[in-house]
Amino acid sequence: MKKITLLGSTGSIGHNTLEVIRQHRDQYCVQALAARGNVDLLLRQIEEFQPPYVCIFDPALRDTLQSRLTTDCEILTGLEGLVEVASHPVDMVVNAVVGAVGLHPLLAALEAGTPVAVANKEPLVMAGRYVMEKSIAHDAPLLPVDSEHSAIFQCLQGFESRDVRQIHLTASGGPFYRCSLEEMRQISPSQAMSHPTWDMGTKISVDSATLMNKGLEIIEAMWLFGLELDQIRVVIHPQSIVHSLVEFIDGSFIAQLGPADMKLPIAYALSYPSRLVLSNTRMDLTDMATLTFDKPDCKAFPSLDLARQAARCGGTAPAILNAANEEAVAAFCASAIPFLAIADIVARTLDESESSSAYDLEAVLAADREARLLARAHIKSTSESYPPC
Ligand SMILES: NC(=O)c1ccc[n+]([C@@H]2O[C@H](COP(=O)([O-])OP(=O)(O)OC[C@H]3O[C@@H](n4cnc5c(N)ncnc54)[C@H](OP(=O)(O)O)[C@@H]3O)[C@@H](O)[C@H]2O)c1
Repeated sequence: MKKITLLGSTGSIGHNTLEVIRQHRDQYCVQALAARGNVDLLLRQIEEFQPPYVCIFDPALRDTLQSRLTTDCEILTGLEGLVEVASHPVDMVVNAVVGAVGLHPLLAALEAGTPVAVANKEPLVMAGRYVMEKSIAHDAPLLPVDSEHSAIFQCLQGFESRDVRQIHLTASGGPFYRCSLEEMRQISPSQAMSHPTWDMGTKISVDSATLMNKGLEIIEAMWLFGLELDQIRVVIHPQSIVHSLVEFIDGSFIAQLGPADMKLPIAYALSYPSRLVLSNTRMDLTDMATLTFDKPDCKAFPSLDLARQAARCGGTAPAILNAANEEAVAAFCASAIPFLAIADIVARTLDESESSSAYDLEAVLAADREARLLARAHIKSTSESYPPC
């Protein structure tokens, strides 16, 4: 029986992880669940999976959760609570919270020597070198959950990094790929949150719409697979069937295909190196009309180049990129700035911040803090000069 701690259990990845566990209750049990504030769903999950520990990030909700608990379960709160549950001895931590808040629990799990299934990509973007050093030092592997990185991981089984010429990360293009500039000026948060092929949380849906998600994934792939920036290409593949490809030095490509269902990469991370039976995940190749691959339009979607710029700079630049993006996406979701301002705010924050080559935790956290202040100032002036309609 493998013990699993699931951070971000009430989100989209959390929901899918529990569905995989539900289908394999004979192999997996839940040691801890963590969420930010969705008490109702968290209570239902506690009742079903009976974890001995739970963390609710918002301390004000502790009493509400306690008063409605019908099972014996210790409640922790705040970042300390997240870090504590992540450091308990378990077989795997699934990190499925969203944003930079996942960095400390990720490090806590690695320091405890626990393998981590990584959905929460932002910490790897912010502090990739530092995180990889921790993973190696504590012999605690990182198993990719992002569908593209899981695909690359699967294609690489049995090969060495010297066999790889480059990797090709596929991107659906998001809901606005062929939209005109005029149409993009009018995009509302609810339009940006509805993705054509994947059912995901708010932040990653907006990141997919700007293509920043693919930019973050480039940086994530550099660290997970030890690749140079120039070895990572992005191709637009609107069908979301080919989840990514590895191109080898002899000119061969190996791709991983499957339905657009996050249960597949989650199950692979949980059961690696073997596989789990999953229900309702069959795909009929003859149902597919065509599979297409296009070059990304980096002019219409500048976020991709911004991420490449930060990756090329290295040091604290990716932390600055990530912080500015988190702030800008939150402001867009609150209807404070227009869609097109997201990339603009990230670009200005990146340009005006002083990045350094340091990559230790202190430097990364300082860069994150300062970039958020700068981004908020840009958000304020943008929202004043471009009030939303
Ligand atoms: N969704 C996908 O298909 C997908 C695919 C690849 C990678 N990812 C990555 O996986 C991560 C999660 O994405 P998602 O789509 O599942 O997001 P989501 O649906 O928004 O869920 C986020 C989860 O994190 C929890 N959370 C947020 N802040 C927290 C905090 N401070 N402390 C504890 N829990 C906190 C939320 O709790 P509440 O519900 O209580 O707010 C929720 O359970 C992201 O980094 C994303 O980039 C997602």
